[in-house]
Amino acid sequence: MSDPERVRQRQRTEWSAVAPGWQRFREKLGAPTGRITERMVELAGIRPGFRVLDLACGAGDPALTIAQIVGSGGYVLGLDLSQEMVRAARAEARRQNITNAGFRAIRSELEPGVPAGSFDAATCRLGLMFMPDPAAALRELHRALRPGARVAVSTWGRPERNPNFSIPLEIIGRHAGLPPQGPMTPGLFALPTPEHLEAVLRAAGFEEVEVEVLRTPAVRARDAETFWRGVSTVAAPIASILDSLTGEQRRRIREDALATLGEIFPDGPVELEGEAVLGAGRRRAPAL
Ligand SMILES: C[S@@+](CC[C@H](N)C(=O)[O-])C[C@H]1O[C@@H](n2cnc3c(N)ncnc32)[C@H](O)[C@@H]1O
Repeated sequence: MSDPERVRQRQRTEWSAVAPGWQRFREKLGAPTGRITERMVELAGIRPGFRVLDLACGAGDPALTIAQIVGSGGYVLGLDLSQEMVRAARAEARRQNITNAGFRAIRSELEPGVPAGSFDAATCRLGLMFMPDPAAALRELHRALRPGARVAVSTWGRPERNPNFSIPLEIIGRHAGLPPQGPMTPGLFALPTPEHLEAVLRAAGFEEVEVEVLRTPAVRARDAETFWRGVSTVAAPIASILDSLTGEQRRRIREDALATLGEIFPDGPVELEGEAVLGAGRRRAPAL
């Protein structure tokens, strides 16, 4: 198996394992990500009647929000590596009675299986950083867009700006070590700055590239226990590290996490801000 294929296989396994958690915590996840979606919709210029491609669609957000914006004259196609995520997205579409969104599992982001020039906008919310070659993935979105159409993507900012992930990772690292991570290694914090997003958007051929950071509420949990349950159920990179440890290691990490968070939030509720990085660009129109 090639390295990119190994990355995809790992992502597929890790995200499939947390798909039920994404269904269960759908409403809670909407708070931090809703503001990101709003801004991505603006940056991509999405309007009623648009056909929109949403890559790494997860359990159906932002595709289902966008489906409501494009209305019955428009359509959204969500693609994801994980069949379980796609099933969750379809189930949510049925539950909300949304009929202008379709979801499909793909083998690779480089094989989206859509005709060139067939979409009016494309989005990829919090998915690009898990891909083996983000610029190559964006090149596929570029190909899928009609000339002049826009893409909008988002990733998480630097670890220190996203304590809801970096605190748990730091505690896990203290007890069990961590797999190597860094910009350009697929994972939560690959592509953590506007400069990273600008570089991959330009490398994919987009013009009029815009990038920005967006502060967002990340966590509003009743207490440390609730926060820990949530993060270890939906954050696939964290859940998969925990899964690989012994029961005793997990128990010690959990105790440490509850104590650390208890010190930071002695009065109970765990409230943390986060930072996303957003990027957008336009598919070049052919010269006349
Ligand atoms: C953090 S979730 C984001 C889901 C959704 N976009 C959202 O914002 O809620 C990351 C998603 O990326 C998907 N993913 C990871 N690597 C991928 C790849 N190479 N191609 C397509 N999807 C991928 C995962 O299966 C997972 O559903």
